[in-house]
Amino acid sequence: MMVLKGKKILIGISGSIAAYKIPIIVRLLMKEGAEVQIIMTPAARDFVTPLTLSTLSKRPVLTEPFNPVDGTWNSHVDMGNWADLMLIAPASATTLGKMAAGIADNLLVTTYLAAVCPVFFAPAMDLDMFQHPSTQRNISTLLSYGNQMIAPREGELASGLCGAGRLEEPEVILEVIRDFFKGNQSWAGKKVLITAGPTVEPIDPVRYISNYSSGKMGYALAEEALKRGAEVTLVSGPVQINAPSGVNLIKVQTARQMLQACDTVFDDSNLLIMTAAVADFRVSDVSGSKIKKQAGIDTPALKLVENPDIVKTLSSHRKTGQYIMGFALETDNEVANAQSKLSSKGMDAIALNSLNDPGAGYGTDTNKVTLIHKSGVSYTSALESKSVIAGRVLDFIEETIVNP
Ligand code: CTP
Repeated sequence: MMVLKGKKILIGISGSIAAYKIPIIVRLLMKEGAEVQIIMTPAARDFVTPLTLSTLSKRPVLTEPFNPVDGTWNSHVDMGNWADLMLIAPASATTLGKMAAGIADNLLVTTYLAAVCPVFFAPAMDLDMFQHPSTQRNISTLLSYGNQMIAPREGELASGLCGAGRLEEPEVILEVIRDFFKGNQSWAGKKVLITAGPTVEPIDPVRYISNYSSGKMGYALAEEALKRGAEVTLVSGPVQINAPSGVNLIKVQTARQMLQACDTVFDDSNLLIMTAAVADFRVSDVSGSKIKKQAGIDTPALKLVENPDIVKTLSSHRKTGQYIMGFALETDNEVANAQSKLSSKGMDAIALNSLNDPGAGYGTDTNKVTLIHKSGVSYTSALESKSVIAGRVLDFIEETIVNP
């Protein structure tokens, strides 16, 4: 799971307010076991201190080509050869321009020119600067050199303007780096079926029973599986988010529709990941017309019947080699409940969310999961963004899969 262990990462920081995010990236990389060497441009030192960065990276931070006190040479060529990957973040408009034109007037750009490893750059600047033809031309030039851009996000900028120019979030940058080292086509040829979101069970033409599921976890998993080269079918209840492009999306409303959609795809799938929050019950007699209040008549009672258990139904006719992972959201006796679902529903593994973990579960952008395989192997994540968790879940499947 530690794909970054021992990887040598050179980070070039240039002068942009977004430099304040770099200590977080350094900390994340160090936590994953990477070695980090930082080079700053003189301007970057106004935005974040070398002391913070050297403490986190456990190495001196370099700005000058040599130490003026003792003459020690900071060899850009040695560093360029040492690194497995160079990340320039934030890449200011000036630094992008110097990199594109080969203006090697500081240690960052000389090292960039000497680097023989893949280079990623993450621009951060004001909206108008980013859109300026000069910046855009420099970016195209860098892309034509084979450098890869971690595109800036849209959002509120330090100037108060809104638009593209914000440095991508540290966790996403980490994910890009992890993907790079993972060799992101590890799931090529695999067919993955993922369910997501809630199901919606009608009461009458205008009312329904449902739950708070946002679909974010399932959609993040679909995106991650796509990134790794899988062919992904996403069977989704109604949600407010867009499906990642490239996914085969099947939209459904009810649990029975979800089962039917999954049934047609499951046979031909290598993996099933059931994140959907399937409604356990539906209304037995759905009214064809709107139920009205009527004076003198008792409050209507809803008669519920149990929905089919989708994962149990599918696992009962699985073929050897098909891997099934379910999700469980629990409030108490979490691990015991998850384990009993794992065995009673014929799953290979289960991802447990506890509602007792703040920031985990429904609706949030973050999650914390405990992954349990039927063999007893388990893994507990930290509280991380759902896209990072998706990576952890797929890593876990890779580690516990026998013969997909
Ligand atoms: N699930 C399913 N079909 C259902 C209900 C649940 O396939 N009708 C799947 C979910 O997608 C999930 C797993 O089963 O992967 C566990 O869901 P959960 O709602 O925790 O299980 P339940 O059996 O409904 O248990 P509980 O009584 O705790 O709600």
